[in-house]
Amino acid sequence: MTTLIEAAKAVREKAHAPFSHFKVGAAIEDEHGHIYTGCNIENASYGLTLCAERVAVFKAISEGAGKLLRIAIVADTPSPTPPCGACRQILWEFMGDAEVTLVNLSDQQETVKMSAILPRAFDASFL
Ligand code: THU
Repeated sequence: MTTLIEAAKAVREKAHAPFSHFKVGAAIEDEHGHIYTGCNIENASYGLTLCAERVAVFKAISEGAGKLLRIAIVADTPSPTPPCGACRQILWEFMGDAEVTLVNLSDQQETVKMSAILPRAFDASFL
């Protein structure tokens, strides 16, 4: 877990956040122990912004990752920041009821299951 958190902290430094100045880093570990990272990437057309979590998931999928087991998310906030609603839906789609570890720069951390932060999720089982 330390390695995953360190990876999320490191990629957070690469965030492109000139509008919000709110930098986020995310790192996902797959079943093979491979780590995929992502930072938030903003755009002058604000709605095109991508959150760190989704960048990490999409990188993992596009690079052929195995089952995605856990994600660490790092932001510089007084208490650890949870993922936004859009990211929760994407995390559920690709990670199911995985462990999500929230961390701030003071190293406060909290681990929650996806089902706790996205109860009664919509997914392909309803289609
Ligand atoms: N952000 C993330 O990267 N992840 C989240 O779950 C919450 C928000 C980013 C999006 C935007 O670049 C900035 O944080 C402020 O909302």
